[in-house]
This record gives sequence, structure tokens and C-alpha cells, in this order.
Amino acid sequence: MTFDRSLKIAPSILSADFADFGREIRAIEAEGADWVHVDVMDGHFVPNLTFGPPAVKAFRKHVTTVMDVHLMIAPVDPYIDAYAEAGADILTAHVEAGPHIHRTLQAIRAAGMKAGVALNPGTPAEAVAHLLDLADLVCVMTVNPGFGGQKFIDLTGKIRRLREMIGDRPIHIQVDGGVDPVTAPLVVEAGADVLVAGSAVFRGGSVEKSTVYGANMRAIREAVLPARQMTA
Ligand code: DX5
Ligand code: ZN
Repeated sequence: MTFDRSLKIAPSILSADFADFGREIRAIEAEGADWVHVDVMDGHFVPNLTFGPPAVKAFRKHVTTVMDVHLMIAPVDPYIDAYAEAGADILTAHVEAGPHIHRTLQAIRAAGMKAGVALNPGTPAEAVAHLLDLADLVCVMTVNPGFGGQKFIDLTGKIRRLREMIGDRPIHIQVDGGVDPVTAPLVVEAGADVLVAGSAVFRGGSVEKSTVYGANMRAIREAVLPARQMTA
């Protein structure tokens, strides 16, 4: 993976048809997804349960772009090698998941993956101040994690602050939760370059009607064009 700040859309397969992940992943990639976002939940750190390493390994066979795995689990460290073995390109852990996020990020990189650190809505940007040299991505949650389809929480001030803190470092700012054509320009203007979107990409489409996924992604890209010009 090479680094650049071009806009990337990372559809969350949490909004896909759970009986048809292979075809869903191929459909979103064919329709222009830049990354594939996989939401891992443990029923403990967040009140929902999703994918263990064997499921993620099965998804990998269909991903030709970047598999971006968002861990909403605690603890993280015992599972890092399993998600590396499952084929994650980026592994993101929450700063709130335990006292040793510094060690966790080191371990993610040591396992050969890019390391991401995620912040819940109530956590300030400063929580990652001493982690930036260990991170390849900061994920700003704009919903409380656990479910797709929730209402966007406006945290543009936090995104702006992170953008300043990051400076010239090659670190992506990802925004996750409630991103759609209305909210995307706000977060891009504040400094985000990777947009996770679940319901806004999958809404109205299916593997049989996958052009809807393409149209939904284009609607987000077109909505952020003026904001991209402002930040360029
Ligand atoms: C929330 C997940 C998100 C979620 C996004 O816990 O981390 O990735 O699926 O879904 P939407 O775009 O529907 O808010
Ligand atoms: Zn996510």
C-alpha cells in the first residue's frame, strides 16, 4: 500500500447481505469502492457481535483492493496475529479498548499490517497525541460504535484538530458513522480522506442491482468535490 491523501470510499460490509458476502464484496469493488471496511464486534466492547478471524479470512479471497479491518473488541492483543493471518491490510484498534494501545499499535505493525487507532465520539483528539508515530490511520467515530445506520454526530472540530496534529505525517484520517452525501463534505473539509459508509452505499441496491452501489458512491464523491477543492 502506498500513501496518498486522495479521497477513498470504504464501504462497510456491515450493511451487505450477510448470506452473500463474496458477491457483495465483488460488487462494491466493481462499482468503485477504494477499500473494503470490515467491522469486527465482540458483544463486550460494543453491544453487537460480528466476524471472527475465519470469517474475515473468507472475505479476503474476494478483496482485490485493501481490506480495512476495524476491531471493536477488547482485549485486542490476543487476536492480532489471527487477523494478520486472515489477511487484514489495515488493523484498527480503539484507544478505549485497554490501557496499552501503544503496545497494541507496535504489535499490529510487527505483524506486518498498517496500524489504525480509533476514537469514540467522547474521546478527545489529544488521546492519540503520543501515538502518531505508531499509527498509519486515525479513525474518528461519528457514531457510537456497534451498529450501522445511526445518525451522524458532528465532530468536525476534532477532525480539524487531528489534521493539525498529524501535519506532514503519512497518516490517513478516516471517518466512520453516518457518512452520506450530506455529511461527507463536512468531514472532508475538516481534513478526512477516507470515508467509511455502510447504509449510504448499500441503500437501495443488491448484488443484482449493483449499479445502485456505484451511483451511491458517486453521489458521495460528487458531494465532496467543492470541499476537496478547498482543502487542496
Ligand atoms: C459502526 C461501524 C461502522 C458502520 C457504519 O459501529 O464501525 O463502520 O457500519 O455504518 P453507517 O455508514 O451506516 O453509519
Ligand atoms: Zn467501522
